[in-house]
Amino acid sequence: MLAAESKNTRQSLAVPAFRTTAVTKATADLGDLLWRASQDADDILFRPPDEWWPLSGWSHVSSLLWRGPLPVGIAGLAPSAFPGRAEARLGLAPATRTPTSARHAVEAALQLAAESGYEELVLALPGAAAWARAAASEAGFEPSHTFQVLERPASVSSRRIERSLEFEAVGSERLDELLAALNAAYEGSPDFVPIARATLAAELAMAKSPFVVAKGESGEILATAHLRFSATATNPSGGPYAWVSNLTVLPAAQGLGLGRKMIRRAVAELHAMGALSVTLGVDSRNLRAVRLYESEGFQFVGELVFWSRRVPSRRTDPVR
Ligand SMILES: CC(C)(COP(=O)(O)OP(=O)(O)OC[C@H]1O[C@@H](n2cnc3c(N)ncnc32)[C@H](O)[C@@H]1OP(=O)(O)O)[C@@H](O)C(=O)NCCC(=O)NCCS
Repeated sequence: MLAAESKNTRQSLAVPAFRTTAVTKATADLGDLLWRASQDADDILFRPPDEWWPLSGWSHVSSLLWRGPLPVGIAGLAPSAFPGRAEARLGLAPATRTPTSARHAVEAALQLAAESGYEELVLALPGAAAWARAAASEAGFEPSHTFQVLERPASVSSRRIERSLEFEAVGSERLDELLAALNAAYEGSPDFVPIARATLAAELAMAKSPFVVAKGESGEILATAHLRFSATATNPSGGPYAWVSNLTVLPAAQGLGLGRKMIRRAVAELHAMGALSVTLGVDSRNLRAVRLYESEGFQFVGELVFWSRRVPSRRTDPVR
């Protein structure tokens, strides 16, 4: 009895046990602290302009990972547009990163997914987070695709801008028209799920900037680009934050050079606002868009890698 007790004591002194607790109001700040420290150490690319991306703003359920008395990590889950599939992000305090703590962080995400009844879990991991990559692979996750961030450096010379097309700024007053144009352009893309009206409305409100659209002869929207600019945040190469999202061309107008005109116009508009470089994100499977951006001088600066696996219905094999 005594021998067993002293053995247990020795073990717990040598290797403080890992455990998880749900993030509550009381521990939300702690969770955010770990979240930021981890993102900062991995890749500041995925930091939004002006403010940190609070964990609570992204995930609907999250766990804190403890090692003995120390909070060391965080796992957050958000529902995806696909029924049964959740997306997870992980954070681990840089000073406590070991293969074991990384495996526990991955395990915490799987546990959350199982408890919330999801069937599939997608881990979104910065390409620079080697610690998480190894743990995800060991836990049976496989990489599926990546979201690449490209930057067009200030040193790339400007291209000829098409003046004959009519462009216009369009905001929430033409929400339904914008929504229809975006969904028509994206239909057929990998993992396509129509953008919900509320999602687009929220995006417009958050970005505080309108879309730029190219119009057809009867005023219909043919192509879109959403420009975001902030003088108080920075692009990877150091100038002001400038980002192009939702560059789209209606299917009937694709392949005719309109996408190229739109990206040139978007770059020119952002430079006029004070941008030095311009960034954007693209799904690595979208070869047409990747080729277009590269030919316009955009270069790879970082990526989020999506790893997925089915969620075991009950977690019976906790990592050691
Ligand atoms: C990506 C997209 C905006 C390109 O617009 P577009 O008007 O079709 O493109 P362009 O006609 O200007 O062509 C520009 C370049 O794209 C590439 N491209 C165009 N059509 C292509 C095709 N069928 N296959 C491969 N590459 C193609 C080529 O590199 C082309 O350059 P080139 O004409 O010198 O050969 C458009 O296809 C689209 O709206 N796709 C759906 C929405 C989307 O995925 N948007 C990107 C979000 S990041």
